[in-house]
Parts: sequence; structure tokens; C-alpha cells
Amino acid sequence: MPISPPPGRWHDVARATGLLAPDGAVAQTIFAEMTALAARTGAINLGQGFPDVDGPDYVKEAAKAAIDAGRNQYGPGDGAPELRRAIADHQHRHYGLDVDPDGEVLVTTGATEALAASILALAGPGDEVVTLEPYYDSHAASIALAGATHVPVPLTAGDLRLDAAALRAAVGPRTRLIVLNTPHNPTGTVLTRAELEQVAAIAREADVVVLTDEVYEHLTFDDAVHVPIATLPGMAERTLTVSSSGKTFSLTGWKIGWVHGPAELVTAVRTVKQFLTYVSGTPFQPAIARALADDETPRALAASLSSRRDLLCEGLTAAGFDVVVPQGTYFVVADGGHLLDRLGAADGHELCRRLPDLAGVVGVPVSAFCRAGSATSEALATRVRFTFVKREDVLRDAVERLHGLAH
Ligand SMILES: Cc1ncc(COP(=O)(O)O)c(C=O)c1O
Repeated sequence: MPISPPPGRWHDVARATGLLAPDGAVAQTIFAEMTALAARTGAINLGQGFPDVDGPDYVKEAAKAAIDAGRNQYGPGDGAPELRRAIADHQHRHYGLDVDPDGEVLVTTGATEALAASILALAGPGDEVVTLEPYYDSHAASIALAGATHVPVPLTAGDLRLDAAALRAAVGPRTRLIVLNTPHNPTGTVLTRAELEQVAAIAREADVVVLTDEVYEHLTFDDAVHVPIATLPGMAERTLTVSSSGKTFSLTGWKIGWVHGPAELVTAVRTVKQFLTYVSGTPFQPAIARALADDETPRALAASLSSRRDLLCEGLTAAGFDVVVPQGTYFVVADGGHLLDRLGAADGHELCRRLPDLAGVVGVPVSAFCRAGSATSEALATRVRFTFVKREDVLRDAVERLHGLAH
């Protein structure tokens, strides 16, 4: 006899991420569903955002050398000293931030753990955590794990930008954290200095901490510039900045991330992190320390992603999608509204289910990054996210396949 699902906080996590059906059944994530669909149909998977070319050989060699040199046991709780120093140097070199590698930096198991540990450390039942909507799903999951209340603030529907008035209205006496993500997944929006100044003013007035997810910090295009909110006046003392090596160096499976901020906040996060994973991947850390001194690899990746973005955006437009050209990340949001009737799909989710058969390509509906049934989810119901972090020949193939949709 099948056992009934156990009670527990996992229900809240599943509900917060849209995975809990009314009858209590747990759905797989949209990424798992679409990846399985791609595998079954032989479609090109532009649903999941990981690169199909690995990061630099010298970084891989450095990890192998660290293994051979015996760096295979638990390392220091804060992370390898050379990596913490490299993170502080990186923040100073790129953004002029003064970060103390001893006490203000914590190495984590990917940005995911940095975000989860920060949210668990700083928010709990009765507290509110504000995010933009759409949002990266692990933000919602961590807020649910903490038992806090998630308050999503919609981006503007047309151009997917910050709605400062909506943010101001959402922040109140119970708000503990504003979670930002710039460059933003799934929309590719890069918040401008002016937008970030509005967020900063709201955070300062309400005396709340900003937790900023900057994993795509180096993946910006054209004249878009990534501005860490910690660089704005009065913000370094109330900001936890999260990033990771996964996107920057095309090593998403290594899961080396970090968080930095004022010592008191980092102490709070460390207190939680040490009981989540204790420490993170010892031999990868000296390798990422070497990578972080290399500004050329991320620059070259951004340049090549910019032309791959153009290729995919042109292909999607030719196929009948309306595209908001992303300024950063490796995702593009395309509106399939004009295609739905002709293709017999009710919304973006159904379009994604049918795209493998119709065009041999897989994307994910943007509604998966929204709260189920929210106004944003409705407003963005016809939009689909595609990744362009695939080899150019793969993208050309995808564009050719998509071309069939227009006829
Ligand atoms: C916005 C955002 N934050 C965090 C992550 C996860 O980063 P990591 O693999 O370093 O945990 C991702 C990965 O897709 C992401 O898109």
C-alpha cells in the first residue's frame, strides 16, 4: 500500500514553487518536465540554462592539481583563504568595493546555498521577504523553508522593468529582506543605477537588508552595465551580495558560490551555512581563486553570448514571437501570443508542451517563475523563456527548426 505523503515544511516549499497539486500530488519541476520532453522527442533543449561548453582548461587543471596535492578534506569554514582574497580583489577591481576577506566573505555551495542560508538566517515566521516577480524559483523555496511570507513585486508587464511604486507599496514594517536579482533571470533585465537608487532609497527608509543575487554579473550586453547595489551610498552596510563561479566560468556543476557583506550579517549567514553543508568543495576553491583573477574569460563569454543572443532573438522573431531583447543573463523571454491560436495552444505552458513536436525545440513558460495564479503569471501567460548558452551550431539548428512555425 502506498504510504501517504508525510507532513512537514516540504509542503510549503512545494506550494511556493507551484509543485503541489490541490490533491496533494507533487509535480516535477517545469525544468525536469521539459528536459524529459526534449530527451523523449529529440528536441533541442533551450529550456535549461547550462552551457554546453565547459570553462577554461587551466581552471580544470588547477582543480585536478589541488586534488593531487591532497586538498581533499574539510577546509576552513569560511572558505579557502586564497578564494576569499580573490573574491575581495574581484569586488574591488570591478566595483571599487572594499571587502575584508577575513570576516566579510563566506564561500558557499553555489549561490543557491548563499541565498538559502541568508534567507534562513534573517527571516522567519511572521516576517516578509520581498522579491521581484517573476523570480528565480529557489528564492521562493528558501522563503518558504524559512517559514516567512513571500511578497512578490511584479516587473512592469511590457518591458519587464522595476516598478518602484509597487516596490515601495510592498515594503512594510514586517519586511526583513528585499531580494534582488540583477542581471535578472528569467527576463534578462539589468537594473540601471537609477532603478537601483530607487530600491536603495526604499531599503534605507524601511531599514531593511537587501540580498542581491548577482550570478550573471559578467554576462551583460551592449551598453548595459552591471551595478552592484552595495556600491550605492549607505548600502554596503545593509547588503548581502551573492554570486558564484557557475555562470561566469561555465562551471555550473562545481557549485562554488559566495556571499559578502558587513561582518555582522555574514556572521548570521555563516551560523546557518555551517549546519547546512559545513564547508564547500575543497579542491574547487583554489581553482576558482585562480579563475577570479581572469577578466578575459568572462569578457569573451559575454561577447560570444551577445552574438548568440542576436541569433536566437532574430530566429524567434522570424518564427512569430515578440521578443524583449535581454541586456544580460543567457535567457530571452519571447511572447508566443500571436502563435497560440494557429498552433492550438491555450497559453505559454501548453505552447512549451507542444513546441517539441511542432518545432523540435524546448523552452520553459515564464509562468513557472511566477506565483501560481498571480496577476504577473496571468500578464506573462503567453511568454516563454529560451536560453542561448548553447553552441552556435546548436542555436542555428534551433532557429532553422523554429522557422517552420512561421509557415
Ligand atoms: C538567478 C540565479 N541565481 C542563482 C542560481 C544558482 O547558482 P548556483 O548554481 O551557483 O547555485 C541560478 C542558476 O540558474 C540563477 O539563475
